[in-house]
This record gives sequence, C-alpha cells and structure tokens, in this order.
Amino acid sequence: MGEFDTRINRRGTHSVKWDMHPEEDLLHLWVADMDFAAPKPIQDALRQRAEHGVFGYTIVGDSVREAIMEWMKKRHNWSVAKGSISFLSGVVPALSLAVQAFTKPKDRILVQPPVYTPFFDMVTRNDRQAVLNPLSQDGQYKMDFVHLEKQFQQGVSMMILCSPHNPVGRVWTKEELETVGELCQTYDVLVVSDEIHSDLILPGYVHTPLASLSPSLSNRTVTCIAPSKTFNIAGLQAAAVIIENEQLRERFSAVMHQQGFHTLNVFASAAMQAAYTECESWLEDLLLYLNKNIEFACTYIEKEIPALKAYHPEGTYLLWVDCSKLQLSKEERLELLKERGRIIVEPGEKFGQGGEGFIRMNLGCPRSMLEEALIGLKEAVYFHIRNAKA
Ligand SMILES: Cc1ncc(COP(=O)(O)O)c(C=O)c1O
Repeated sequence: MGEFDTRINRRGTHSVKWDMHPEEDLLHLWVADMDFAAPKPIQDALRQRAEHGVFGYTIVGDSVREAIMEWMKKRHNWSVAKGSISFLSGVVPALSLAVQAFTKPKDRILVQPPVYTPFFDMVTRNDRQAVLNPLSQDGQYKMDFVHLEKQFQQGVSMMILCSPHNPVGRVWTKEELETVGELCQTYDVLVVSDEIHSDLILPGYVHTPLASLSPSLSNRTVTCIAPSKTFNIAGLQAAAVIIENEQLRERFSAVMHQQGFHTLNVFASAAMQAAYTECESWLEDLLLYLNKNIEFACTYIEKEIPALKAYHPEGTYLLWVDCSKLQLSKEERLELLKERGRIIVEPGEKFGQGGEGFIRMNLGCPRSMLEEALIGLKEAVYFHIRNAKA
C-alpha cells in the first residue's frame, strides 16, 4: 500500500466535504479538496512553526517569492519577476479584488460556463454583468472563439479564464490560449487567468501560463495561482497573484489594501515555502496516482455504466460526467445518488449553462474509496433504470 492508499477519517474535523452531511456511510466526492495527507515537508514546516509558539504579525519573506519564481520557471517555463507577486488568502478573493480594481459597476465581464461557480458570483455580487461564452462540445470541450469575438465586439472589459478548466478538465493548448490572447488584445480586454489547477496536469498534456505567451499579453493579464489544490492545503488559505504590468499591479494593490488585505498568515507562508521548494517529488507521485484513478473511473463508467458519459480530464482531479440520459432533475439525481449510491457529488447545474444533467466527481481519494463510490454510482443508476422501465 502506498501513501495515497491510506484512508484517513476526516469526519469530525470541521471538513466542509465530510462534515456537512453527517451520515456515517456516505462517501463524499464533491468539494474540490483531496482526501490525502499533505506532503511531509509541509507538515514538518507547520509543526516547526507551531513549536515556536509566538504567532505575531508576519511578513512574507523574499524566500517565498523566490520559491514561486523557481517553481514557475521549472514547471511552467515562465520567468516571473519578484516584484510582480502579491499574496492573498485565496484565489476567490483575488477574483473579486480584480473585478473591483479593473472594472466599473455594470461593466460586462466574460466567463465560459460550465465553470467554477464563484466566477459568476464575484462578478454579480460586485454589481457587474456576467456575459457568457459557453464552451462548445463535440466529444471534447472547446472554447467557442466565434461567439467569444461577437461578445467582445459588444464591449467586454474583463474575461475570467479558467486554465485548466474546472469542471470539464481541459488543459488549454498553447494555440487555444494564443487565440484567446489575440482576441483580448484586439478588443482591449483584460484577462484574469485563474491557474489554480495548473500543477495538476496529467501525462501527455502541458499547461501554458497565459501571461508567458508574450510581453504584450502579460501586460493585460492577472494570473492567480495557489498551492492549495496541488498539495491539498486549501484550509491554510494561501494564494498568489502575479501581475507583471506595474500600473495594473498598483491598482490591484490599492484595492487590496482598501479592503484590508495585507499578507499571508504565518502558517500559510510556511506551507507555501515548503510546497514550492520541497514537494516536487510528492507531486510527481500524486499525479501518477491521480492518473490511475482517472483511468480506472473512466474505464469503469464506460464499461459498467454506459448510460453515463465521462469526459476524460487532461488536468485536475475532477471528473465531469453526463447523466442526462437518466432524465432526472438536479434534485432527483442528487437524491438518487445519495439514497441508492451513498455518494455525494456536485450537481452540474452549479456550474451554470451546459451543466444541466451532469455531475462532477472528485477523484482525489484512495483507490479503494473510489471503487466503492463507483459501485454506488452503478447501483444507483441501475436502480433508476429498472424503476423507469417498470
Ligand atoms: C478554478 C478555481 N478557482 C479557485 C478555487 C478556490 O480558490 P481559493 O480556495 O484559493 O479561494 C477553486 C476551488 O475549487 C477553483 O476550482
């Protein structure tokens, strides 16, 4: 048994994923955190910092910036300047601050559903309009560039790009990103590129940071990154925002301070440093494990539950599954999976247009748990099919 096979009981730890539905025999495959322990170097760094015993106001040391710079260069071939990095407690706050810093109330901000729910929320809660460019789909998800251009022609001040894309699992190719970049330049659109999943890339795919494509594109890009998904430390609330354009950075920083954000907490800072300097081999092992989970789940669904269609992800640990053939409402689908399958998943509808009839399953868990969850999924689907026929 390897380290990722260990089943760790997370119930009773105030886990959003495991403690919201308290029934003991349910398996939770919804919220996007994994059921694995964080890498040992991160645990050691936290323990060491905790043992110091004094937790006063802290500055994020230069060494954390240097760790990010080295990681970006090594993993993504992107040279980031030290001064371009700011720190925040999360990518979602960064999205909200970017909306506030770079757009005005009622401005049109483009998002590409189905997509991570806060992309809509951070736009509408800040009194801006969400303009949609739904992903197109013909066996594989793609960005609809013709429709994107039409939207840009009608005036869009910002685009929020999800790269890689949650929930469909696409790792956008360099060519796709170049097209996005060209359109943003032509129509003077600022891009917020949420690259929180960029270190979770499956074999055969390559992530390209949007801002690394050209200096002119970098000049209009705000990149959000975090160690939270990669190293499973979402509860520590650590994220970084990379803005190479000095004017944009100053505006972002002004809004950040206006809202009272300053820096990372002591543990977030220690964890980030350890993550980006000591955990690369852990990540390589994780990616191999996740890839096997994904292969296993996709093959299982294809062979055992052909009424469903899983979209093989290229990145992330999320599986996007079309359940529309079951012809169930969101509530009926969730109820069926909970009552008959004993599994909790995310309903596709949560991700906006294009998510109707889908579920999103989190595969960042020990294989034995995934196997049980898939058996539950199968039982639920066949129960429904038998009942529908009767
Ligand atoms: C695309 C995307 N952005 C941001 C987040 C959350 O970021 P944070 O917890 O740093 O606010 C998630 C979490 O699932 C995500 O999928």
